[in-house]
Amino acid sequence: MQIYLVGGAVRDELLGRPVQERDWVVVGATVEELLRLGYQPVGKDFPVFLHPETREEYALARTERKTAPGYHGFRFHAAPDVTLEQDLARRDLTINAMARAADGTLIDPYGGRRDLEARLLRHVSPAFAEDPVRILRLARFAARYAGLGFRVAPETLELMRAMVAAGEVDALVPERVWAETARALLEPAPQRFFTVLAECGALARLFPELARLPGQPWEEGADAWAAAEAALARAAARGEDGPVRFAVLLHSAGAGLGADPGAAATAPIQALCRRLRVPNDYRELALAVARHQAAARRAATLDAAALLALLEALDAFRRTQRFAAFLRAVAVLAASDAASARLEQARRKALAVDARAWLARGLRGTELGAALHQARLQAIAGEDD
Ligand code: CTP
Repeated sequence: MQIYLVGGAVRDELLGRPVQERDWVVVGATVEELLRLGYQPVGKDFPVFLHPETREEYALARTERKTAPGYHGFRFHAAPDVTLEQDLARRDLTINAMARAADGTLIDPYGGRRDLEARLLRHVSPAFAEDPVRILRLARFAARYAGLGFRVAPETLELMRAMVAAGEVDALVPERVWAETARALLEPAPQRFFTVLAECGALARLFPELARLPGQPWEEGADAWAAAEAALARAAARGEDGPVRFAVLLHSAGAGLGADPGAAATAPIQALCRRLRVPNDYRELALAVARHQAAARRAATLDAAALLALLEALDAFRRTQRFAAFLRAVAVLAASDAASARLEQARRKALAVDARAWLARGLRGTELGAALHQARLQAIAGEDD
């Protein structure tokens, strides 16, 4: 049997990037042989094993053919006669379809190295179209390697458009769409993920709330989509976490800056989060940002009552983590820390109010709440420190 390093590890090593995880392909072996050597089977769909010591993934060389829609509609054929070239042929992109032999030789039957040098994301074969997840993967790679100058090969973009037109992305399950999106959000240029999806038409199918953005006038000189993209790029540049990136991307999907943040403004965000089963922390922050970012950005002009009302609406005294994330999102949207700093200062002053004296005097419930509110107002209105 021969063993080859394949996929992302070969690609990233050639790009001079750190290799995250190594995958191997085994040619000329059977399941029984690998079991005898102590490899542990994983996954029920494919003949994939974990190495007994390194725990790295070893897969028997296989061919794949789509037999039905969806993820499990694949029939694979793994046998000792499947060649390395056949295994590489079933892969998504040429840059992912290279292998490295034990002696260091590069096996590159589909021009992966040439495409790496030309900075092209290109599909290996028409079989790309058999798996719509590949559209999301490609968009994610575009977000990851944008800084290196990668772009989508024209013929691949055309194929992706045809896949979208044929309804392929409509069959994607929400969990998979979100999993790829959450990963893409953390890439260095997450906005590219959404641009590539827009270019092939998938954005309108998967994120109609975002696809509707371009027509909305928003900030002066920029339409809503350009502004959302720019905000996402700034969030990535500041190294923000996934929920903050998601929130700044979505904040304008409702009404846009300066609009009255009523329920209608957040309906598209609610719809998107429900459909894709977006985790609560992402959803809650996105909603808080959509509802309150416009007021927060005006913090410099707000009086103590308005500041306190905003802090209370944000539940800033109890949800301190989410409030901190909210402030970071506002700083990204405003491209300045000033408004966030003022809100945080107001929160600190309000928090310094000590309720123990009232408690000792027997104040409870609404009475206590009113006294606390009044004292917090005065604290916020007090001289700035
Ligand atoms: N692959 C594919 N089609 C998919 C998923 C995976 O062709 N839908 C192939 C690609 O050759 C890929 C390899 O399987 O390189 C391993 O997949 P995975 O580990 O998911 O991705 P990597 O390319 O290693 O990328 P990452 O750096 O994101 O892990």
